[in-house]
Amino acid sequence: MKGVILAGGTGSRLYPLTRVTNKHLLPVYDRPMIFYPIQTLVDAGIRDILLVTGGHSAGDFLRLLGNGKDFGLKHINYTYQEGEGGIADALRLAEYFADRGPLCVVLGDNIIEGNVRSACDRFRRNPSGAHIILKEVPDPQRFGVPILDGGKVIRIEEKPAVPPSPYAVIGIYFYDHTVFDRIRTLKPSARGELEITDVNNSYIAEKTLSYSVLDGWWTDAGTFESLLRANCLVAQSAARQEDRASGSAH
Ligand code: DAU
Repeated sequence: MKGVILAGGTGSRLYPLTRVTNKHLLPVYDRPMIFYPIQTLVDAGIRDILLVTGGHSAGDFLRLLGNGKDFGLKHINYTYQEGEGGIADALRLAEYFADRGPLCVVLGDNIIEGNVRSACDRFRRNPSGAHIILKEVPDPQRFGVPILDGGKVIRIEEKPAVPPSPYAVIGIYFYDHTVFDRIRTLKPSARGELEITDVNNSYIAEKTLSYSVLDGWWTDAGTFESLLRANCLVAQSAARQEDRASGSAH
């Protein structure tokens, strides 16, 4: 399975931090933000990766990542999203790369503690429809929120004022090749974007969307509060790992 990282957009919610650089190049503890979604794909066993960038400083991604040697990769594919047409608009650019195969799509500002290897392996064995990952959060109104009924997702609402469940749809998605036909049917939302939630709802309408719940913490990093939280969570995890390593060395 191939992987796509969506790191376009202008990051306007983080102005002035993003006035002269790209949101995904900002530091999260000891690494640039973009390192985390790349590691998510690599940890899931994915080696063929397309990075969709946009906005400012696109060339800096190439200087930072090169061919992906830091991650044990042989090469990274790059493409550029003009403007800020939404997550589904950025994903549209991956059609040629996907070559009618299944994809794991990761949003460039999403960071997880653990890994999605088992969900990835399941989708690899049966690469049809879509698979999404949920996480219980204290502030679901900031995200896509699923309505659950009888162990199924029956609809997803994007940033609902009154969340229908305590879950967020996190920014790691598995899609079959029909995702690009679905994107072609989308109309821009009230915020002027092609929404990934509309893509997911089109799979739900055909009863071909499954879900799992993530173990370990998850956060986005696209607002001042969540960027701070991401830094703290990564720093705490690093400290725990160091404690474990020094404990086992004694
Ligand atoms: O973080 C998970 C949430 O991400 C989901 O629960 C929501 O359903 C989904 O819509 C999205 O919500 P946000 O409004 O927080 O997404 P944001 O606009 O911050 O974009 C997230 C990433 O997607 C961003 O870091 C880069 C990429 N992106 C976004 C846009 C708008 C692009 O590549 N191009 C774009 O035009």
